[in-house]
Amino acid sequence: MPDKRVSEILKGARGEAARAKLSADLEQVRVKYLGRQGLLTQFLRSLPSIPASERPEAGRQANEAKAEIEALLGQRLAELRGAERRRELESQRVDLTVPGRRPPMGTLHPLTLVQDEIIEIFQGLGFAVAEGPEVESDFYNFEALNIPKDHPARDMQDTFYLAEDVLLRTHTSPVQIRTMKAQPPPVRIICPGKVYRRDADITHSPMFHQVEGLAVDMSISMGDLKGTLELFAREMFGPRTTIRFRPSFFPFTEPSAEVDMRCFLCGGEGCRVCKQSGWLEILGSGMVHPQVLSNVGYDPEEVTGWAFGMGVERIAMLKYGIDDIRLFFDNDLRFLTQFA
Ligand code: DAH
Repeated sequence: MPDKRVSEILKGARGEAARAKLSADLEQVRVKYLGRQGLLTQFLRSLPSIPASERPEAGRQANEAKAEIEALLGQRLAELRGAERRRELESQRVDLTVPGRRPPMGTLHPLTLVQDEIIEIFQGLGFAVAEGPEVESDFYNFEALNIPKDHPARDMQDTFYLAEDVLLRTHTSPVQIRTMKAQPPPVRIICPGKVYRRDADITHSPMFHQVEGLAVDMSISMGDLKGTLELFAREMFGPRTTIRFRPSFFPFTEPSAEVDMRCFLCGGEGCRVCKQSGWLEILGSGMVHPQVLSNVGYDPEEVTGWAFGMGVERIAMLKYGIDDIRLFFDNDLRFLTQFA
């Protein structure tokens, strides 16, 4: 005959163990039934007061109940702990298949690309890169280049003056002078850099870039100049590019020529881009003026040379069909990333 008190305790413990939702709830169940003041513990402690005839059977049942409750709690604890661990892992789930975040890649500025390309073409012909200061003296920027103080050619280049004889260079030609003064002939240099003029509209910027070229040696001719610039134009704008030399004037060259290339848009027919002429100006050039050679201490009877100067923005605008120079300096990524 099962002891009524033990069955009550057992029933209560089974029900509460089954209803426990968390491992912490189970601990309360254990304390309630098996703890030092627990119901079953108290019952076992009360055994001596039970009539001797019922005592062994009640004791046996109580011990069985204790073993059952312990086993039950152990089993439920394992279940609940497992569920809790799964919930915890689920909530901390990491999706290892999500792609990483890529840092955005910068791109070279179109002017850098074009300038590098120009330099590379001339380096391939044996020209060395030479550089000079952007803050120049009147002597290097004008005087030594055969542009004396009251020469009308000074008006061609509206100059930013910093002091009476100190200015922002208006072209890269002063690097010719600096290089020739520093070394004897032969000279083959290419001079990239920033230049400054008081001028601003859709084709002029107060700061822009030029690349100057200079070759001085014994018996250098205008034919060498033409061949070199023709090769440059074909490398830069494609093998079918046609150029022409148009007589012009620069104080530091004699004779002087401006170089045009056949309009890439109309092929020479005449259009909006070439202003109906069929040609686009790409640079200025000429044979180095004997006076310039003398100014740097070279003997114009012994050596001759040619030089040219081109605007990097202008070359880039022609190459990419860009019609507003300000786009280069606005730093609008929609424009810049097109050259990636
Ligand atoms: N310095 C001239 C300019 O800024 C460009 C130029 C023309 C440079 C003819 C030269 C040259 O070396 O020979 O417009």
